[in-house]
Amino acid sequence: MSTLPKAVRIVEVGPRDGLQNEAKSIPTDRKAEFVRMLAAAGHKEIEVASFVHPKWVPQLADAAELIRQLEPVPGVRYSALVPNMKGLERAIETGIRRVAVFTAASETFNRKNINMGVEESLGVFRPVVETALREGLSVRGYVSTCFVCPYEGAVPKEKVAYVVKALFDLGVDEISIGDTIGAATPRDVETTAGHLLTQFPAAQLAMHFHDTYGMAVANVYQSLQMGITTFDSSAGGLGGCPYAPGASGNVATEDLLYLLDRLGIETGVSLNLIRRASHFIGGELERQLPSRVLQTT
Ligand code: HMG
Ligand code: MG
Repeated sequence: MSTLPKAVRIVEVGPRDGLQNEAKSIPTDRKAEFVRMLAAAGHKEIEVASFVHPKWVPQLADAAELIRQLEPVPGVRYSALVPNMKGLERAIETGIRRVAVFTAASETFNRKNINMGVEESLGVFRPVVETALREGLSVRGYVSTCFVCPYEGAVPKEKVAYVVKALFDLGVDEISIGDTIGAATPRDVETTAGHLLTQFPAAQLAMHFHDTYGMAVANVYQSLQMGITTFDSSAGGLGGCPYAPGASGNVATEDLLYLLDRLGIETGVSLNLIRRASHFIGGELERQLPSRVLQTT
Protein backbone atom coordinates (compact mmCIF):
# COMPACT_ATOMS: atom_id res chain seq x y z
CA MET A 1 0.00 0.00 0.00
CA SER A 2 1.29 3.47 -0.84
CA THR A 3 2.24 5.86 1.94
CA LEU A 4 -0.37 8.39 2.92
CA PRO A 5 0.54 11.91 4.09
CA LYS A 6 0.69 12.59 7.84
CA ALA A 7 -1.13 15.92 7.57
CA VAL A 8 -3.50 17.60 5.13
CA ARG A 9 -4.40 21.26 4.59
CA ILE A 10 -8.07 21.97 4.04
CA VAL A 11 -9.25 25.12 2.28
CA GLU A 12 -12.83 25.76 3.36
CA VAL A 13 -14.74 27.20 0.42
CA GLY A 14 -18.27 26.91 1.83
CA PRO A 15 -18.92 30.64 2.29
CA ARG A 16 -17.96 31.28 -1.37
CA ASP A 17 -18.39 28.17 -3.55
CA GLY A 18 -21.12 26.89 -1.25
CA LEU A 19 -23.25 29.97 -0.80
CA GLN A 20 -22.80 31.31 -4.35
CA ASN A 21 -25.23 28.72 -5.65
CA GLU A 22 -27.80 28.97 -2.89
CA ALA A 23 -30.99 30.75 -3.94
CA LYS A 24 -32.06 31.92 -0.48
CA SER A 25 -30.32 35.16 0.34
CA ILE A 26 -28.44 35.01 3.64
CA PRO A 27 -28.02 38.25 5.64
CA THR A 28 -24.42 39.43 5.91
CA ASP A 29 -24.22 39.09 9.69
CA ARG A 30 -25.34 35.44 9.43
CA LYS A 31 -22.59 34.77 6.88
CA ALA A 32 -20.08 36.39 9.22
CA GLU A 33 -21.29 34.13 12.03
CA PHE A 34 -20.88 31.10 9.75
CA VAL A 35 -17.29 32.14 8.92
CA ARG A 36 -16.54 32.64 12.63
CA MET A 37 -17.82 29.14 13.38
CA LEU A 38 -15.60 27.71 10.62
CA ALA A 39 -12.55 29.47 12.06
CA ALA A 40 -13.48 28.30 15.56
CA ALA A 41 -13.61 24.74 14.20
CA GLY A 42 -9.92 25.02 13.34
CA HIS A 43 -9.93 26.09 9.69
CA LYS A 44 -6.87 28.14 8.80
CA GLU A 45 -7.93 29.01 5.25
CA ILE A 46 -11.43 30.19 4.46
CA GLU A 47 -12.59 31.50 1.09
CA VAL A 48 -15.24 33.93 2.20
CA ALA A 49 -16.51 35.73 -0.89
CA SER A 50 -15.99 36.77 -4.49
CA PHE A 51 -15.73 40.15 -6.17
CA VAL A 52 -17.55 39.26 -9.37
CA HIS A 53 -20.40 41.12 -11.04
CA PRO A 54 -23.18 41.32 -8.42
CA LYS A 55 -25.76 40.69 -11.13
CA TRP A 56 -24.22 37.27 -11.89
CA VAL A 57 -23.84 36.11 -8.30
CA PRO A 58 -26.27 38.16 -6.18
CA GLN A 59 -25.70 36.05 -3.05
CA LEU A 60 -22.13 37.35 -2.80
CA ALA A 61 -22.88 40.99 -3.63
CA ASP A 62 -22.21 41.88 0.02
CA ALA A 63 -18.58 40.66 -0.12
CA ALA A 64 -17.09 43.97 1.06
CA GLU A 65 -19.50 44.33 3.97
CA LEU A 66 -18.93 40.70 5.00
CA ILE A 67 -15.15 41.13 5.07
CA ARG A 68 -15.54 44.31 7.12
CA GLN A 69 -17.53 42.35 9.68
CA LEU A 70 -14.85 39.66 10.06
CA GLU A 71 -12.40 40.32 12.84
CA PRO A 72 -8.89 38.98 12.20
CA VAL A 73 -8.23 35.61 13.83
CA PRO A 74 -4.55 34.76 14.45
CA GLY A 75 -3.35 32.13 11.99
CA VAL A 76 -6.52 32.27 9.87
CA ARG A 77 -6.29 33.45 6.26
CA TYR A 78 -9.41 34.73 4.48
CA SER A 79 -9.52 34.87 0.70
CA ALA A 80 -11.84 35.94 -2.11
CA LEU A 81 -12.17 35.32 -5.85
CA VAL A 82 -11.38 38.13 -8.29
CA PRO A 83 -12.04 37.71 -12.02
CA ASN A 84 -10.41 40.94 -13.22
CA MET A 85 -8.86 44.27 -12.18
CA LYS A 86 -12.17 45.70 -11.06
CA GLY A 87 -12.60 42.71 -8.74
CA LEU A 88 -9.09 43.14 -7.38
CA GLU A 89 -9.64 46.85 -6.71
CA ARG A 90 -12.81 46.03 -4.77
CA ALA A 91 -10.93 43.33 -2.84
CA ILE A 92 -7.99 45.57 -1.96
CA GLU A 93 -10.36 48.20 -0.53
CA THR A 94 -11.54 45.68 2.07
CA GLY A 95 -8.01 44.91 3.28
CA ILE A 96 -8.23 41.19 2.45
CA ARG A 97 -4.76 39.65 2.11
CA ARG A 98 -5.37 36.75 -0.29
CA VAL A 99 -7.22 36.61 -3.61
CA ALA A 100 -7.78 33.95 -6.24
CA VAL A 101 -8.00 34.25 -10.00
CA PHE A 102 -10.01 31.63 -11.84
CA THR A 103 -10.05 30.27 -15.36
CA ALA A 104 -10.75 26.88 -16.96
CA ALA A 105 -9.21 24.14 -19.05
CA SER A 106 -12.11 24.32 -21.53
CA GLU A 107 -13.08 27.30 -23.66
CA THR A 108 -16.85 27.02 -23.60
CA PHE A 109 -17.14 26.75 -19.85
CA ASN A 110 -14.79 29.69 -19.37
CA ARG A 111 -16.83 31.88 -21.72
CA LYS A 112 -20.05 31.01 -19.90
CA ASN A 113 -18.41 31.56 -16.52
CA ILE A 114 -16.35 34.72 -16.96
CA ASN A 115 -17.19 35.81 -20.51
CA MET A 116 -13.59 35.31 -21.67
CA GLY A 117 -11.64 32.70 -23.57
CA VAL A 118 -8.85 30.93 -21.69
CA GLU A 119 -6.00 32.90 -23.33
CA GLU A 120 -7.89 36.13 -22.90
CA SER A 121 -8.39 35.43 -19.20
CA LEU A 122 -4.66 34.78 -18.74
CA GLY A 123 -4.00 38.17 -20.33
CA VAL A 124 -6.51 39.81 -17.99
CA PHE A 125 -4.95 38.10 -14.94
CA ARG A 126 -1.38 39.21 -15.68
CA PRO A 127 -1.79 42.78 -14.32
CA VAL A 128 -4.19 41.52 -11.65
CA VAL A 129 -1.61 39.12 -10.20
CA GLU A 130 1.20 41.67 -10.62
CA THR A 131 -0.76 44.35 -8.78
CA ALA A 132 -1.90 41.99 -6.05
CA LEU A 133 1.66 40.80 -5.38
CA ARG A 134 2.98 44.37 -5.45
CA GLU A 135 0.35 45.32 -2.86
CA GLY A 136 1.56 42.47 -0.65
CA LEU A 137 -1.40 40.12 -1.23
CA SER A 138 -0.88 36.46 -2.06
CA VAL A 139 -2.66 34.87 -5.02
CA ARG A 140 -4.17 31.46 -5.59
CA GLY A 141 -5.21 30.19 -9.02
CA TYR A 142 -8.13 27.96 -10.00
CA VAL A 143 -8.50 25.86 -13.10
CA SER A 144 -12.06 24.65 -13.65
CA THR A 145 -13.18 21.71 -15.81
CA CYS A 146 -9.88 19.83 -15.38
CA PHE A 147 -11.54 16.48 -16.06
CA VAL A 148 -14.89 17.01 -17.78
CA CYS A 149 -16.48 20.12 -19.29
CA PRO A 150 -20.30 20.25 -19.25
CA TYR A 151 -20.22 21.58 -22.84
CA GLU A 152 -17.16 19.92 -24.42
CA GLY A 153 -16.88 16.55 -22.63
CA ALA A 154 -13.57 14.97 -21.57
CA VAL A 155 -10.74 17.48 -21.16
CA PRO A 156 -7.21 16.42 -22.20
CA LYS A 157 -4.63 16.39 -19.39
CA GLU A 158 -2.21 18.32 -21.62
CA LYS A 159 -4.65 21.23 -21.78
CA VAL A 160 -4.92 21.25 -17.99
CA ALA A 161 -1.12 21.25 -17.63
CA TYR A 162 -0.84 24.10 -20.12
CA VAL A 163 -3.22 26.33 -18.13
CA VAL A 164 -1.65 25.35 -14.80
CA LYS A 165 1.80 26.30 -16.10
CA ALA A 166 0.52 29.60 -17.48
CA LEU A 167 -0.98 30.49 -14.08
CA PHE A 168 2.18 29.56 -12.18
CA ASP A 169 4.15 31.69 -14.66
CA LEU A 170 1.95 34.65 -13.68
CA GLY A 171 3.04 34.25 -10.05
CA VAL A 172 0.24 32.42 -8.22
CA ASP A 173 1.53 30.32 -5.31
CA GLU A 174 -0.95 27.45 -5.49
CA ILE A 175 -3.39 26.09 -8.05
CA SER A 176 -6.66 24.38 -7.30
CA ILE A 177 -7.55 21.67 -9.80
CA GLY A 178 -11.31 21.75 -10.27
CA ASP A 179 -13.65 18.89 -11.02
CA THR A 180 -16.33 21.52 -11.57
CA ILE A 181 -19.21 19.17 -12.36
CA GLY A 182 -18.12 16.36 -10.04
CA ALA A 183 -17.84 13.84 -12.87
CA ALA A 184 -14.26 12.60 -12.36
CA THR A 185 -13.47 9.11 -11.06
CA PRO A 186 -10.27 7.96 -9.32
CA ARG A 187 -8.91 6.74 -12.64
CA ASP A 188 -9.32 10.23 -14.15
CA VAL A 189 -7.57 11.68 -11.12
CA GLU A 190 -4.74 9.21 -11.54
CA THR A 191 -4.36 10.24 -15.20
CA THR A 192 -4.66 14.02 -14.91
CA ALA A 193 -3.12 14.61 -11.49
CA GLY A 194 -0.43 12.05 -12.37
CA HIS A 195 0.43 14.11 -15.45
CA LEU A 196 0.50 17.35 -13.43
CA LEU A 197 2.75 15.81 -10.79
CA THR A 198 5.40 15.10 -13.41
CA GLN A 199 5.69 18.89 -13.88
CA PHE A 200 4.58 20.65 -10.70
CA PRO A 201 5.23 20.04 -6.97
CA ALA A 202 2.42 18.34 -5.06
CA ALA A 203 2.72 21.02 -2.35
CA GLN A 204 1.52 23.66 -4.82
CA LEU A 205 -1.53 21.75 -6.07
CA ALA A 206 -4.90 21.55 -4.37
CA MET A 207 -7.75 19.28 -5.44
CA HIS A 208 -11.25 20.76 -5.71
CA PHE A 209 -13.81 18.00 -6.07
CA HIS A 210 -17.52 18.57 -6.48
CA ASP A 211 -19.62 15.59 -5.45
CA THR A 212 -22.31 15.32 -8.12
CA TYR A 213 -21.76 11.60 -8.73
CA GLY A 214 -20.69 10.79 -5.16
CA MET A 215 -17.10 10.26 -6.28
CA ALA A 216 -15.45 13.09 -4.35
CA VAL A 217 -14.26 11.09 -1.33
CA ALA A 218 -12.93 8.33 -3.58
CA ASN A 219 -11.12 11.00 -5.60
CA VAL A 220 -9.62 12.47 -2.43
CA TYR A 221 -8.35 9.02 -1.44
CA GLN A 222 -6.81 8.58 -4.88
CA SER A 223 -5.12 12.00 -4.59
CA LEU A 224 -3.78 11.22 -1.11
CA GLN A 225 -2.13 8.11 -2.47
CA MET A 226 -0.44 10.28 -5.08
CA GLY A 227 1.02 12.59 -2.42
CA ILE A 228 -1.40 15.51 -2.72
CA THR A 229 -1.99 17.22 0.62
CA THR A 230 -4.36 20.15 -0.01
CA PHE A 231 -8.10 19.77 -0.52
CA ASP A 232 -10.94 22.26 -0.93
CA SER A 233 -14.24 21.45 0.75
CA SER A 234 -17.53 23.05 1.82
CA ALA A 235 -19.16 22.64 5.21
CA GLY A 236 -22.23 20.46 4.80
CA GLY A 237 -21.48 19.99 1.08
CA LEU A 238 -23.08 23.33 0.29
CA GLY A 239 -23.22 24.73 -3.19
CA GLY A 240 -22.27 24.15 -6.78
CA CYS A 241 -21.39 26.45 -9.65
CA PRO A 242 -24.06 28.69 -11.21
CA TYR A 243 -22.41 28.32 -14.64
CA ALA A 244 -22.10 24.53 -14.64
CA PRO A 245 -25.53 22.98 -15.19
CA GLY A 246 -26.16 19.97 -12.96
CA ALA A 247 -23.09 20.55 -10.77
CA SER A 248 -23.72 19.98 -7.09
CA GLY A 249 -21.74 21.09 -4.03
CA ASN A 250 -18.12 20.54 -3.11
CA VAL A 251 -17.05 17.50 -1.17
CA ALA A 252 -18.49 18.11 2.30
CA THR A 253 -15.91 19.12 4.90
CA GLU A 254 -17.47 16.58 7.28
CA ASP A 255 -17.14 13.75 4.77
CA LEU A 256 -13.54 14.70 4.06
CA LEU A 257 -12.76 14.91 7.79
CA TYR A 258 -14.40 11.56 8.50
CA LEU A 259 -12.05 9.95 5.98
CA LEU A 260 -8.94 11.85 7.10
CA ASP A 261 -9.61 11.36 10.83
CA ARG A 262 -10.01 7.63 10.36
CA LEU A 263 -6.86 7.43 8.28
CA GLY A 264 -5.02 9.13 11.16
CA ILE A 265 -4.19 12.15 8.98
CA GLU A 266 -3.97 15.44 10.87
CA THR A 267 -6.01 18.44 9.74
CA GLY A 268 -6.38 20.63 12.83
CA VAL A 269 -10.12 20.87 12.10
CA SER A 270 -12.79 19.53 14.46
CA LEU A 271 -15.48 17.42 12.82
CA ASN A 272 -17.90 18.15 15.66
CA LEU A 273 -17.47 21.90 15.35
CA ILE A 274 -17.86 21.77 11.57
CA ARG A 275 -21.12 19.89 12.09
CA ARG A 276 -22.31 22.76 14.26
CA ALA A 277 -21.39 25.31 11.60
CA SER A 278 -23.22 23.25 8.97
CA HIS A 279 -26.34 22.89 11.12
CA PHE A 280 -26.25 26.65 11.60
CA ILE A 281 -26.00 27.52 7.89
CA GLY A 282 -28.42 24.72 6.94
CA GLY A 283 -30.90 26.30 9.35
CA GLU A 284 -30.41 29.69 7.73
CA LEU A 285 -30.95 28.16 4.30
CA GLU A 286 -33.93 26.17 5.60
CA ARG A 287 -32.72 23.02 3.92
CA GLN A 288 -30.97 19.81 4.76
CA LEU A 289 -27.39 19.89 3.52
CA PRO A 290 -26.16 16.90 1.52
CA SER A 291 -23.17 15.80 3.66
CA ARG A 292 -23.61 12.11 4.51
CA VAL A 293 -21.75 12.48 7.78
CA LEU A 294 -23.87 15.47 8.81
CA GLN A 295 -27.02 13.42 8.27
CA THR A 296 -25.90 10.85 10.83
CA THR A 297 -26.21 13.38 13.67
P1 HMG B 1 -18.29 41.16 -18.35
O1 HMG B 1 -19.71 41.58 -18.59
O2 HMG B 1 -17.55 40.54 -19.49
O3 HMG B 1 -17.43 42.38 -17.78
O4 HMG B 1 -18.28 40.20 -17.10
P2 HMG B 1 -16.95 43.71 -18.47
O5 HMG B 1 -15.53 43.85 -18.09
O6 HMG B 1 -17.35 43.74 -19.92
O7 HMG B 1 -17.81 44.83 -17.69
C1 HMG B 1 -19.22 44.91 -17.79
C2 HMG B 1 -19.78 45.61 -16.55
O8 HMG B 1 -19.51 44.80 -15.40
C3 HMG B 1 -19.12 46.97 -16.27
O9 HMG B 1 -20.13 47.79 -15.65
C4 HMG B 1 -18.08 46.66 -15.26
O10 HMG B 1 -17.75 47.74 -14.42
C5 HMG B 1 -18.77 45.57 -14.44
P3 HMG B 1 -20.94 48.90 -16.49
O11 HMG B 1 -19.85 49.78 -17.04
O12 HMG B 1 -21.68 48.14 -17.53
O13 HMG B 1 -21.79 49.52 -15.44
N1 HMG B 1 -17.78 44.67 -13.81
C6 HMG B 1 -17.74 44.39 -12.49
N2 HMG B 1 -18.51 44.77 -11.48
C7 HMG B 1 -18.18 44.32 -10.24
N3 HMG B 1 -17.14 43.48 -10.02
C8 HMG B 1 -16.36 43.06 -11.02
C9 HMG B 1 -16.67 43.53 -12.31
N4 HMG B 1 -16.09 43.30 -13.52
C10 HMG B 1 -16.78 44.00 -14.41
N5 HMG B 1 -15.34 42.23 -10.79
C11 HMG B 1 -17.26 39.05 -15.25
C12 HMG B 1 -17.09 39.53 -16.69
C13 HMG B 1 -16.11 38.11 -14.95
C14 HMG B 1 -17.24 40.25 -14.32
C15 HMG B 1 -18.62 38.32 -15.11
O14 HMG B 1 -18.72 37.34 -16.13
C16 HMG B 1 -18.83 37.67 -13.77
O15 HMG B 1 -18.93 38.33 -12.76
N6 HMG B 1 -18.97 36.31 -13.73
C17 HMG B 1 -19.26 35.59 -12.52
C18 HMG B 1 -18.36 34.39 -12.48
C19 HMG B 1 -18.52 33.61 -11.19
O16 HMG B 1 -18.58 34.16 -10.10
N7 HMG B 1 -18.59 32.26 -11.30
C20 HMG B 1 -18.62 31.40 -10.17
C21 HMG B 1 -17.27 31.30 -9.51
S1 HMG B 1 -16.15 30.23 -10.39
C22 HMG B 1 -16.44 28.66 -9.73
O17 HMG B 1 -17.36 28.48 -8.98
C23 HMG B 1 -15.50 27.54 -10.08
C24 HMG B 1 -14.53 27.19 -8.93
O18 HMG B 1 -15.24 26.87 -7.76
C25 HMG B 1 -13.64 26.01 -9.34
C26 HMG B 1 -14.44 24.81 -9.89
O19 HMG B 1 -15.33 24.29 -9.18
O20 HMG B 1 -14.17 24.45 -11.04
C27 HMG B 1 -13.61 28.38 -8.62
MG1 MG C 1 -16.10 24.94 -7.32
